[in-house]
Amino acid sequence: MGEESVEKLKRLAAKHAVDVVQSGMILGLGHGSTTRHAVDILGERVNSGALRDIVGVPTSEYTTAQARALGIPLATLVEQPVLDLAIDGADEVDPNLNLIKGLGGALLREKIVESAARRFVVIVDESKLVERLGTRGPLPVEVSQFAWEVHLRWLESLGCRAELRREADGAPFVTDNGNYIIHCTFLEGIADPAALGRTLIEHPGILEHGLFLGMATEVVVAGADGVRQMVRPK
Ligand code: A5P
Repeated sequence: MGEESVEKLKRLAAKHAVDVVQSGMILGLGHGSTTRHAVDILGERVNSGALRDIVGVPTSEYTTAQARALGIPLATLVEQPVLDLAIDGADEVDPNLNLIKGLGGALLREKIVESAARRFVVIVDESKLVERLGTRGPLPVEVSQFAWEVHLRWLESLGCRAELRREADGAPFVTDNGNYIIHCTFLEGIADPAALGRTLIEHPGILEHGLFLGMATEVVVAGADGVRQMVRPK
């Protein structure tokens, strides 16, 4: 599928999620190319007056700047610790609505903000659907800059190929929180995401990982045949 068609699908999924938003809601605003469409559409509706008294809690500096430029009122999570709804993209979605997120580099703030949402709607094009997490791309892991090489070697000891995320000029990618990201590729995918998540988060120097398990309440999937919704059983 061409890049233009994928963008159309992303926008379609984004529109579907923004249709759920009602005036007065406190909204978690994710990060990434799909969420960018959602923030755009939200901005249009706020400016047209179709949505009133919306407050957004952004998960990245990029989304903060985009939302601010569009005139969407913003707050921090400290000011608004409970969110009615969060909207964000994902890199992989499995049949149980477990996710890999963070290839956009914002996973730590995303996990904090989206954990505070009563409802978390994920927006993807159908290429993100997988049977097993880790089969489409790497798992991003946010680590301290301090001794990052040690974290990388430890991650490799878990059976993946680990690589420091870098900018195009070769410099390490630095997150909004001042940390590094290591991409972990599991050749056969991740057999037990819950066990891996626990192992990662318990290890010193590992600050967060891109496994978002049991967090999404709905996933909006846009595909060639239209939009469908996957809902997590209560
Ligand atoms: C950002 O850190 C990520 O979690 C994104 O939500 C995820 O990478 C999906 O991004 P795209 O919508 O750009 O594919």
